[in-house]
Amino acid sequence: MSTPRTAFVTGGAGFIGLHVVRQLLEKDYKVRIFDNMFRGDRDAVARLAESGDVELIDQDVRYGGAVHAAMKGATHVVHLAAVSINKSEADPYESIDINTVGAHNVIAAAADHGVERFVLASSASVYGDPKKLPMHEDDELSPLTPYCISKRTGEDLLAYYQRRAGLSWIALRFFNVYGPGQKTTAYYTSVINHFVNRIKNGEPPVIDGKGEQSMDFIHVHDIARAVVLAMESEQSNVPVNVGTGIDTTVADLARILIDAVGADVEPIFNPRDVLVSRRAADTTRAKEVLGFVPEIAVEDGMTELIRLGG
Ligand SMILES: NC(=O)c1ccc[n+]([C@@H]2O[C@H](COP(=O)([O-])OP(=O)(O)OC[C@H]3O[C@@H](n4cnc5c(N)ncnc54)[C@H](O)[C@@H]3O)[C@@H](O)[C@H]2O)c1
Repeated sequence: MSTPRTAFVTGGAGFIGLHVVRQLLEKDYKVRIFDNMFRGDRDAVARLAESGDVELIDQDVRYGGAVHAAMKGATHVVHLAAVSINKSEADPYESIDINTVGAHNVIAAAADHGVERFVLASSASVYGDPKKLPMHEDDELSPLTPYCISKRTGEDLLAYYQRRAGLSWIALRFFNVYGPGQKTTAYYTSVINHFVNRIKNGEPPVIDGKGEQSMDFIHVHDIARAVVLAMESEQSNVPVNVGTGIDTTVADLARILIDAVGADVEPIFNPRDVLVSRRAADTTRAKEVLGFVPEIAVEDGMTELIRLGG
């Protein structure tokens, strides 16, 4: 029998982390969640731990010694622990501590332990405001906040430990992730909750400007699939976009959610100047490197979300 693979998943008790852990269990990984439970779901972790294949290390990525000790014996690392983009402007010191120093602690420990693959949760925000769509991995990066700067630095640190210690890595640049289990305060997707709450109350969603601002919404189930594929792909040492390639405008989103709820309301447009930013991933590399094609269309994912009451 082959030796069991052990995945060390930082932030594994969070929104994306729990979906990743469930898919890893289906692939017969043993999972060690490393999470300080700042935003983690303790009950969900306890249920997963009943399988006997999941353990929780309740610790902080800012403590390099704790990270190094806890990683002993791991064959794969998925680094998801981070504080969010909106907190990063409010408290840049904490953001850099957790997102840059913390990422370095995890990456350096992985290089030292000689793990088979390191998968980093990076972000589409490393591109800044894109000059063209779709956004390609080789486009110029222009990270605009401490959070985005940390994601870019994480990618650069991976390349450094690859050169220095032969670390094998993939940095996944997640686009706008949504799906069951997401906290209602999530930055980019809070617009979903705002619209759904109004529509369910029989009130029309209110859109600033013409609603031309767009996002590339990708379902968390697809994101978790991409993570697992990245842990096992033959090609490595590159950043890879994880999006659908489809830019959904705020006006499209309002229409999708109205249809999903089945409500008889029309959006209201609030005329004012809005800075229109748009997002859509070039998905070519994800297909080539990971064999990844998103499975859940945004209309279906949003409808499921509403059915689940989220
Ligand atoms: N959700 C998105 O749309 C999105 C988009 C791009 C990138 N990402 C990235 O994906 C990753 C996961 O995001 P999420 O949406 O699941 O967020 P989340 O907040 O739900 O999960 C993050 C987890 O990290 C843990 N954590 C925070 N600080 C920690 C610390 N100092 N030490 C140990 N654990 C700590 C939290 O307790 C939480 O369980 C993050 O790196 C995030 O930047 C998310």
